[in-house]
Amino acid sequence: MKVLVIGSGGREHALVWKIHQSPRVNKIYCAPGNAGIKRMAECVELSVTDVDGLVRFAKKEEIDLTVVGPELSLTAGIVDIFEQQGLRIFGPSQDAAILEGSKVYTKEFLEKYKIPSAKFKVFNDREKAKKYIDECGAPLVVKADGLAAGKGVIVSSTVQEAKDAVDLIMRDKAFGDAGNLLIVEECLKGEEASFIAFTDGKTILPLPTSQDHKAAFDGDLGPNTGGMGAYSPAPVVTEKIAEQVMQQVMLPTIQGMAKEGRPYKGMLYAGLMIDGDNVNVLEFNCRFGDPEAQPLLMRLKSDVVDIFDAVIDECLDQIKMKIDPRPTVCVVMASGGYPGNYESGKVIKGLEKASDVEDVVVFHAGTTIENGEFASAGGRVLGVTAVGTDLEKAITSAYKAVGHIAWTGSSFRTDIGAKALKNVHEITMGKEVENKAKPIGS
Ligand SMILES: Nc1ncnc2c1ncn2[C@@H]1O[C@H](COP(=O)(O)OP(=O)(O)O)[C@@H](O)[C@H]1O
Ligand SMILES: [Mg+2]
Repeated sequence: MKVLVIGSGGREHALVWKIHQSPRVNKIYCAPGNAGIKRMAECVELSVTDVDGLVRFAKKEEIDLTVVGPELSLTAGIVDIFEQQGLRIFGPSQDAAILEGSKVYTKEFLEKYKIPSAKFKVFNDREKAKKYIDECGAPLVVKADGLAAGKGVIVSSTVQEAKDAVDLIMRDKAFGDAGNLLIVEECLKGEEASFIAFTDGKTILPLPTSQDHKAAFDGDLGPNTGGMGAYSPAPVVTEKIAEQVMQQVMLPTIQGMAKEGRPYKGMLYAGLMIDGDNVNVLEFNCRFGDPEAQPLLMRLKSDVVDIFDAVIDECLDQIKMKIDPRPTVCVVMASGGYPGNYESGKVIKGLEKASDVEDVVVFHAGTTIENGEFASAGGRVLGVTAVGTDLEKAITSAYKAVGHIAWTGSSFRTDIGAKALKNVHEITMGKEVENKAKPIGS
């Protein structure tokens, strides 16, 4: 069969890499893709929001399955439009993707269905928001309603910072119409984790747990980024917590969306804050995380195309998902200056040597080919991903490969996975896991 993957980041390279392993697939296209993806897929110069162009392409090439990486395509309604044209596509409809597209919708939804989340208030008026901020006192979190490429959330440790965030979002319109509404939210304590599951609207099939590293610098310092690394599993999500997340978050969310007339199919990603036995939802994403996709897909032993098909055909309960018991870790290599200004077009050295390191795959995020050589072409450039019999070995292999790679200004965090090592007894090799989907009940 022929598969089209939409997107151009490390997540999409990992998807293409995994889909490429399927014996059912003989041709992969990626729009627009990157230089690393080119080795396994034919890259097509179409933007992820050019839905009409993508539909025309899928029809012309008789694509059997389209897999969507980024949220922008989903909130633009790509799934609905493909389905109207009789094309098979994996992802939630535009109505369902509102769980990522509008933080205000999601907060009100969480409240309605009694799903645990931080206390909040919604504002369309700056002065009222500031008055509320004065009443609450710091710390507080201020969030733009709509999509803001990971920049629309400002965790504020002082009242002044929170008020400045209100001005940034609503007066300066730093995120455009995404800031027509904003949320002022209680600041939660704890450790973050990502809980990502497949769902066909009837059953939910969770992937292993994972944890992202959002901050730019070691020790979780500096500005937030798209993600500087990730590992799986996340020991903070014990088996007990995972069960609690299924019961208190995932099942009521899929049930609730059905009741709202927005049946949810695809991938549901809950961003969680975990504090002891307390689990709160920070946000939902309606697609794979980046970089979580890299370590998660490396652990998935089952054919991912079978899972995509089962979601589309609403028979996810037929899938037995096999997971490699070994932990994985992904270290993101970025252009110096990211997430602020950075330079592109720097020749990347050492990629081959890095790929020769055992148990390592180098996923490309922002790369291009210039004069026959790989060059940087974005903030996040590579996701060096390794598997190991324990997390420490995975971390060692990943950093060994990272050590071979460099370009002018390249940078990376040196502590990816370190947080998990304190609970290392839980993440050494266990039995092979085989997961089955859970019915959502009524
Ligand atoms: N209520 C909260 N309390 C503490 N930290 C928060 C809260 N909400 C968000 N954050 C922090 O801000 C980051 C980004 O927020 P999130 O809601 O995930 O938005 P997005 O990913 O769309 O930017 C989170 O990963 C978390 O670190
Ligand atoms: Mg987030």
